[in-house]
Amino acid sequence: MKAALADQLARVNQAHLLRFWDELTEDQRRQLADDINAVPLDRLPHLTTVVRGEGAAETDLSNIQPPLVVSKSSVGRAEIEHGQSLIAAGKVAPFTVAGGQGTRLGFDGPKGAFEISPVKNKSLFRLFAEHIRATERRYDVELTWYIMTSPINHVDTVAYFETNRYFELTVERVKFFQQGVMPSFSTDGQILLADKHRLALSPDGHGGSLLALAQSGMLKDMAAKGIEHISYFQVDNPLVHCIDPAFIGLHDRSGSEMSSKSLAKADDFEKVGNFVMVGDQLRVIEYSNMPDKIATARNDDGSRKYDAGSIAIHLIRRAFVERLTADPAAFGLPWHRAVKKVPHVDLKSGTLVEPDEPNAVKLESFIFDALPLAQKPLVMEVERADEFSPVKNAEGVDSVATAKRDMSRRAAQWLQHAGVSVSRDADGYPPVACEISPMVALDADELKHKRLPKVVSNEPVYLGE
Ligand code: UTP
Repeated sequence: MKAALADQLARVNQAHLLRFWDELTEDQRRQLADDINAVPLDRLPHLTTVVRGEGAAETDLSNIQPPLVVSKSSVGRAEIEHGQSLIAAGKVAPFTVAGGQGTRLGFDGPKGAFEISPVKNKSLFRLFAEHIRATERRYDVELTWYIMTSPINHVDTVAYFETNRYFELTVERVKFFQQGVMPSFSTDGQILLADKHRLALSPDGHGGSLLALAQSGMLKDMAAKGIEHISYFQVDNPLVHCIDPAFIGLHDRSGSEMSSKSLAKADDFEKVGNFVMVGDQLRVIEYSNMPDKIATARNDDGSRKYDAGSIAIHLIRRAFVERLTADPAAFGLPWHRAVKKVPHVDLKSGTLVEPDEPNAVKLESFIFDALPLAQKPLVMEVERADEFSPVKNAEGVDSVATAKRDMSRRAAQWLQHAGVSVSRDADGYPPVACEISPMVALDADELKHKRLPKVVSNEPVYLGE
């Protein structure tokens, strides 16, 4: 085994990975070989150039324009009914990307198991499960929920669902699959060892979901079930409408291969991706790559010119993913480079180094880089308060506290819409925690048909079955 690995690694200048081979047990050697085999060695020459920051193709922003954005409130009845009929015919599947590390939240477990709802402390996964069950009931359809995990959280995620009896979903219709991994590199392109027998590996970004859908057999599973549209959402947004008829109808009717939701940015430099047209291609530019001059540009009426922020909710045609991944060796989204602190084994002393400063390069691909490859991509703008409040951080912006408050705000707004008397402050927040189970209502209009209290007083409100 050693000779074959040594030969492979020498060809891509990574021979140091076997530096401690002679000290390892048989099991450890097997583990090391597995880690090495998980790395796309044939792509390493290209990857190491990206790692060194050389040859990165800068997007030419000289020919940039704001994209055309359709507002959700303008989507017509015909499109909504079309979306509903696609859902009822079983042509849409919810898909959650949940392979990330969740470093900023610092929660010890898969992020989806984090308990977030303001009254009942339901976890993110439980909320999505209820949303899916309610959709099944509303449309009298069986949905299959695809969940992408990664080697860092796969076992714990499946165990979490088992412990919770799959939140009353049908076990066979919750499909887990794992995404690929990428090694961390030293700044000169050497793969780092996390241990003498382990590479420093991390998930390869949510863009890895496309290849993972193909290689795990999930695309085939979808085709066999007649699923045509993948409703993609992240694990960290408790306000997400997992399956949205207006979005689905608009996307399908317009012949779009990939559609995305946007919202009006909170400020010029909000930390969300920016939808732009570069020439005739729809793209997302990360906030960190958005030149100040473009971020602060104004229209004649003083409004923000580049105002469409990405909230990582997409509809993706299965046929589009099949087309992109038909030849896996030829498919690849661009790699984004991030310099991070990565603990690693020092090759001379064999001891573990815990760096104080960023020392390593991580590479990830992003799902939104598929947009320029899609036919007729479209952007639909939604209301932030109704659809987006991600749990990224333990405190501060996009945190546990803001997501809980925003869940209460949306529940209060729905209650008010349904005729309940609720006092709300200038920003729309109620004085007490409010929570509505997706099993009671999937949107504000559905709540109108339910039995409701007349008034929200000083006690927290929970509406469940
Ligand atoms: P984030 O970019 O917020 O990353 O992921 P994260 O790993 O969850 O959190 P930090 O940055 O370490 O704090 C956005 C979404 O994409 C998924 C995450 O699970 C989350 O739903 N994701 C991210 C993956 O599925 N795989 C990845 O490799 C990265």
